[in-house]
Amino acid sequence: MRYYLGLATTFHDPALALVGPDGAVLFAEAAERFLQYKRAPNCEPDPGTRMGGLLQEHVPAGAELVIASSWGGQFADFLKGQAASGAFDLPALAAHPSTLNRSFVPERAERIFIADLHAMQARAGNGTILALDNETRGFGGRPRATIAGQRRYTHHLAHAAYALWGSPFSEATALVVDGMGETGSAAIFRLRDGRIEEVRRHRGRGSVGFLYGLVTDLAGFDQIKGEEWKIMGLAPYGRSDPVLMDLLRRLYSLEDGRLRFADSATVQTVAAAVLARRPTDLGEQGWADLARCGQDIFSELMDGLVAEAWALAPGENLVIAGGCGLNSSYNGRVLARSGFRRLHVPSAPADDGNAIGAAWLALAEDRPDWTGPKAEARPLTPYLGSIVSTEPLARMAAWEPRARCLGYEGVTRAAATILAEGGLVGWVQGRAEFGPRALGNRSILADPRPAHAKDALNAKVKYREAFRPFAPSILAEAGPDWFEDYADSPYMERTLVWRAAVRDRVPAVVHADGTGRLQSVTRERNPRYAALIAAFADLSGVPILLNTSFNVMGKPILHTAEDAILMFTTTGLDAVVVEDWILTKAPPA
Ligand SMILES: [Fe+2]
Repeated sequence: MRYYLGLATTFHDPALALVGPDGAVLFAEAAERFLQYKRAPNCEPDPGTRMGGLLQEHVPAGAELVIASSWGGQFADFLKGQAASGAFDLPALAAHPSTLNRSFVPERAERIFIADLHAMQARAGNGTILALDNETRGFGGRPRATIAGQRRYTHHLAHAAYALWGSPFSEATALVVDGMGETGSAAIFRLRDGRIEEVRRHRGRGSVGFLYGLVTDLAGFDQIKGEEWKIMGLAPYGRSDPVLMDLLRRLYSLEDGRLRFADSATVQTVAAAVLARRPTDLGEQGWADLARCGQDIFSELMDGLVAEAWALAPGENLVIAGGCGLNSSYNGRVLARSGFRRLHVPSAPADDGNAIGAAWLALAEDRPDWTGPKAEARPLTPYLGSIVSTEPLARMAAWEPRARCLGYEGVTRAAATILAEGGLVGWVQGRAEFGPRALGNRSILADPRPAHAKDALNAKVKYREAFRPFAPSILAEAGPDWFEDYADSPYMERTLVWRAAVRDRVPAVVHADGTGRLQSVTRERNPRYAALIAAFADLSGVPILLNTSFNVMGKPILHTAEDAILMFTTTGLDAVVVEDWILTKAPPA
């Protein structure tokens, strides 16, 4: 029996995935969760101390294990070529006295960064081998699994494999767009007869992801911390400024559909001109007009890539992968702007998803008859990560009467009541979501009806910028009543427009431009969460909850019951639910 360990090994969002002989994803999780270190930059995804337990849990004794990682060997050559041509000279910007110092790193820091990346990639896999060696010593010379090979797959192919084989489609075109793969930042693939073929690969350093990152920095945020999200949230507050648009357009050119950055002197001049227009009193709120212009430019460039995908591989079904697939605002509009009729964006389109992609590519290489996971496992569930033990709550109950085991129906009723009365509830159920968004298993929930719910949540728990919207989870059957041109959105992957007549019923989840980044919830996909929303609807008449990730600013989503209890204790959460247990601030009635 051959199992596959997929490792996502990029600078940010390292992750691991265990895949069974038939392609079933047994486990998938980003390293940031168990490390509790946001995005876990340059950390290997499979430390030996963790792998022993994971292999025991998911891989039967006597199995073979293939280790597959998601970064090919061409990157070093690519960098050398770019440096020789002068095209890698953007770091000249580092002289600028701004956050750009950190994003367009100077040459020396760049070398360190790349050396770090390569060192991490070399370490990845060793933890698993170490864990198996330890087993050999601990179990009389018979390890749980033997290594049947270590393989590497290219970055964009891994993105495409995860997104295409995890989609509901048997045929589809995948557009991969991110900061950078080994040799470029965009590629197009096609799924046909269960196999994946490359249609087009863009080469060179011009990158929609990097351009969006530059806008992030210029607008007052930090792309190194992954604050590109904030541009998307802030854009609806800004106006389109023709001068800023002209300046941003000078940063790049399009040659035969290929994005090329301007020379570094031009980039530096433009960045200085943009910064000269930046208001001095931004504080932490960022620069809305630049965010709006950056989002508009992003949409233009993505439209061009989608048009190319349509021209080269037309069809019904579009799949978007790579970090740029997290731009839900664009995702919500893309079908109206292209010939494709259906869209799938997976729960982890950024680099963490490549752990599953690499594992599936290794399986497909071994088994030419394998054409993707079984139909009933598609689209791929996002609930693939660790579970949370309730033991800490059981221990707590010995001395704390507010920690109680009420059973599934009991906690559902209790949580719905607290929510309908305006309380904030941390909700932890089942396996953690794979990908950056909380989809009802590691969520903080609130009533979306009060206009002040958003401010209260920010003041008591999330401590984040006022402009950032909170997302709605909605029972799928109610979706068309609440959204225009409703489309199923299981992973919060797209932003849709609220119907005008309902906006004042749920003001806490309606963004400044009348949109919401919705999660469509069904009983099949998440029975416990669907039951909670239904119970809340019984009390409130609204089949919608405000859903935000169960973390505090700057930290990843929680990993253990202790994390949940700590957040409960140190924030204004009114209750935390872990499986059948509830802990409340108010004493039991
Ligand atoms: Fe990527």
